[in-house]
Amino acid sequence: MKITLIGYMGSGKTTIGKMLSKKLDLDFYDLDVLFEKKYDSILNIFKKKGELFFRNREHYLLKKILKQKNKYVLSVGGGTPCFYNNIYLLNKYSNTFYLKANGYTLFKRLFLEKNTRPLISHLSKNELFIFIIKHLSKRSNFYDKSLGKINTYGKSKNDIVQEIMKSIK
Ligand code: S3P
Repeated sequence: MKITLIGYMGSGKTTIGKMLSKKLDLDFYDLDVLFEKKYDSILNIFKKKGELFFRNREHYLLKKILKQKNKYVLSVGGGTPCFYNNIYLLNKYSNTFYLKANGYTLFKRLFLEKNTRPLISHLSKNELFIFIIKHLSKRSNFYDKSLGKINTYGKSKNDIVQEIMKSIK
């Protein structure tokens, strides 16, 4: 069983991924963490080498993980499905689930932790909200191509995990 969680920054991919992997007794991988182990912090890479460099290395790392590993729950970055042919690779090699969250919920979460994320770290509160709404709308075109979609609004973490488990049985 190979499961990948996709969705916007702050949608809960890592938290849900860890919980799900425990329930299913599968290894858990976080593409951002694997990237940072291999290269440098994502913040530093964006600063020193730029986003294109990041996207390119992220793409190759993703391909490697998807092909090499057999059983896992994988959480990828918010932008991962939106570059190169990543969404097709994700769907080809794994069961993808889009953790769908609304713009205002994401804004509330991301405002508290925006400093670790290079795409939003420089934005003021007002700018952040507008950015998320526009960006989410563009990225939804990619997220919507996932095989499974989980609407997370108003649901507990346990409910979300259960919903994913039900749909893979
Ligand atoms: C990004 C999301 C981040 C990380 C990088 C870029 C994005 O991951 O990959 O900062 O483009 O949305 P999370 O979604 O885990 O925050």
